[in-house]
Amino acid sequence: MHKMNQPPTTNHQPPTTNHQPPTTNHQPPTTNHQPFNPFSLKNKIILITGASSGIGRATAIECSKMGARVIITARNEERLQKTFSQLEGDGHEKIIADLTATADIDKLANSVDQLHGLVNNAGINKLLLPQFINEKDLNITFQVNTIAPILLTQKLLKMKKLRKGSSIVYVSSVAGVYSSTPGNSMYSASKGAINGFMKNIALDLLNKEIRCNSVNPGMVDTNIMEHGIVTEEQLEEHKKKYPLGRFGKPEEIAYAIIYLLSDAASFVNGTSIVIDGGVTIKE
Ligand SMILES: NC(=O)c1ccc[n+]([C@@H]2O[C@H](COP(=O)([O-])OP(=O)(O)OC[C@H]3O[C@@H](n4cnc5c(N)ncnc54)[C@H](OP(=O)(O)O)[C@@H]3O)[C@@H](O)[C@H]2O)c1
Repeated sequence: MHKMNQPPTTNHQPPTTNHQPPTTNHQPPTTNHQPFNPFSLKNKIILITGASSGIGRATAIECSKMGARVIITARNEERLQKTFSQLEGDGHEKIIADLTATADIDKLANSVDQLHGLVNNAGINKLLLPQFINEKDLNITFQVNTIAPILLTQKLLKMKKLRKGSSIVYVSSVAGVYSSTPGNSMYSASKGAINGFMKNIALDLLNKEIRCNSVNPGMVDTNIMEHGIVTEEQLEEHKKKYPLGRFGKPEEIAYAIIYLLSDAASFVNGTSIVIDGGVTIKE
């Protein structure tokens, strides 16, 4: 029964609205936010030869700072350990190998995981005027500077240990390609040869999307001239030719290697980067 004078009950509910305060994604910025960095080597596994000193050591350390997992190799255990102890991050490995021994190159290729990058850096230099070149020195120079990088590349390719999209860097030199210095013909020949190899395999490996490039340093402050016949005075004299009045630092070569290993260099293939403080434009 209707009660009189009661307003009729209706279904007129005040309309429900969805006027909630708008939800937004405006979260306060998280502190883990990583800015995009095309030079990053995060999640990349890189094998670096000659990592017990000089340019190889600097390259290993700087690559680890850029997030790479590095596999470092050389002959001298103590010096290699010194590099190893300076690496940032986890998961790095060290492997003792003599690149003049084919069995050691095999061991190296067998022991590594699939790689995103290979830095063929190990090298030696012995200055000899052409009339004093001998087969023994010629063989060892070519074995370390030319044959070992070629064989290591070949074995890793054959074993499919270089992933699609990986990058191979050869540490060549301005010697033999861009400049000449007295008594340096053996070394120059070995470095010119590796640039020729690099330029051709850059073409051969296009279908695998593996990029190949070289860095070509001028004089860098390392131990490489220790076994030569160059005196401190001669080195000081040579330094005067350098427009900046100094030789390079190993890190200054490492940074170019990092660029070539990184995705920032994804359109760079078959090229030789000169890093010499401008000495070859002056000579
Ligand atoms: N420094 C320069 O002025 C300069 C200029 C242009 C190009 N480069 C090139 O840069 C690269 C690095 O040279 P660097 O100046 O850094 O010289 P470095 O300090 O003498 O280092 C050479 C590296 O090569 C390794 N190595 C030498 N013989 C080897 C062998 N038989 N098996 C395995 N590893 C071997 C050495 O390690 P272990 O002794 O422990 O084996 C060492 O780690 C070389 O290819 C060099 O030709 C250097």
